[in-house]
Amino acid sequence: MHFCDGMEQPKKIIITIDGWSSCGKSTLAKQLAKELNYVYIDSGAMYRAITLYFLRHHVDWTISTAVNEALKHIKLEFVANHKNGQTEMWLNGENVEYVIRDLVIAEKVSEVAAVKEVRDFAVSRQQEMGKAKGIVMDGRDIGTVVFPHAELKIFMTADEAVRVQRRFKELYEKNPNITLAEVKQNLTHRDYIDSHRAISPLRQAADAIVLDNSHLTMKQQLGIAEKWVKERMK
Ligand code: DC
Repeated sequence: MHFCDGMEQPKKIIITIDGWSSCGKSTLAKQLAKELNYVYIDSGAMYRAITLYFLRHHVDWTISTAVNEALKHIKLEFVANHKNGQTEMWLNGENVEYVIRDLVIAEKVSEVAAVKEVRDFAVSRQQEMGKAKGIVMDGRDIGTVVFPHAELKIFMTADEAVRVQRRFKELYEKNPNITLAEVKQNLTHRDYIDSHRAISPLRQAADAIVLDNSHLTMKQQLGIAEKWVKERMK
């Protein structure tokens, strides 16, 4: 796919991908970033890493002074892994990319992500990363709060049954003891908290384009998004 037809350099844009849990946001975001040679940022990984820190250090996230104090000791970095070409989440110098995907983190992350101090901390870092443009970021509030002026906003969705099956497959590979019911319960619970919290709830931005991938292959969804990207780069 060529994004530049003439000699002119294509303009760098910001692409935001928001949507429900497990609807394939990160898959599409990674594909687009690779095609465009853009930076990919998984904003959910930041909330997951903060949750990991809080759990390890017994931080009570219902107490704002405790949260503020803990945040002073958190350093988040996205580090490129040259072996697999992926960008991975590091917390205070430790690669936590694998451990933050655990169900133990998934069970608490929505509560932590609903805390104002946590969101302010994460959002300011996300905005900093987007200053140079040329970025694809996925999450829940990227098109509405983090980059309200992004050139391309995608709101992804898929049938709940499809999403549960996808997440189950992903988690089962790591932990064969996991059940479909557990995964469904966690997904429904997170979607509820993410879309009902007081600060920056999951919403479709007014100028976002909906991409329902329930019945699309990865190749098909990439093809659709690429067309949108091309239009916005003009
Ligand atoms: O995308 P994910 O499942 O890794 O996200 C983990 C949690 O973080 C999710 O339950 C909601 C929260 N989140 C958020 O509130 N805002 C974002 N921009 C990204 C994630």
